[in-house]
Amino acid sequence: MVISIASQKGGAGKTTTSISLAAGLARKGKKVLLIDVDSQANSSKVLLHNYPSIAKEETVYNAILKRLPLIIHQTQVSRLDIVPSHILLSGTDVELTTAIDRAGSGAGGGMVTGAQSALPDIRRAQPGL
Ligand SMILES: Nc1ncnc2c1ncn2[C@@H]1O[C@H](COP(=O)(O)OP(=O)(O)OP(=O)(O)O)[C@@H](O)[C@H]1O
Ligand SMILES: [Mg+2]
Repeated sequence: MVISIASQKGGAGKTTTSISLAAGLARKGKKVLLIDVDSQANSSKVLLHNYPSIAKEETVYNAILKRLPLIIHQTQVSRLDIVPSHILLSGTDVELTTAIDRAGSGAGGGMVTGAQSALPDIRRAQPGL
């Protein structure tokens, strides 16, 4: 089951709901993967004590921009894992729009496959990262 927490409105409780729901479901025995796609990365900072030492290559940024596998990090909460976000995600919409423009202006046009092709691939973070 996929549950999305999204709203354009600021301060609506998206982050609080994401963390509480994910932790609550894990506590109830569900295996939960929280994918943080908010460039503020507040859920990642709360759930990963080593967040400041995590490179952007170990976050959802690389999955979206570089077509690389999602990297799962274990949290301190049993059964709750997270794919952390990164501040650089704040420029993703511009970067993808530019990529679409480039692909569209090439011979025969084209489409961006980065975000689509990256999502099915998942791997574990290296221990100690
Ligand atoms: N159910 C709730 N009852 C009372 N206060 C809440 C509830 N959920 C969240 N809050 C409070 O509302 C404020 C905003 O919550 P939160 O940061 O989760 O919103 P957000 O939608 O993620 O905001 P942003 O758009 O800035 O990322 C916080 O101070 C939080 O503690
Ligand atoms: Mg938030």
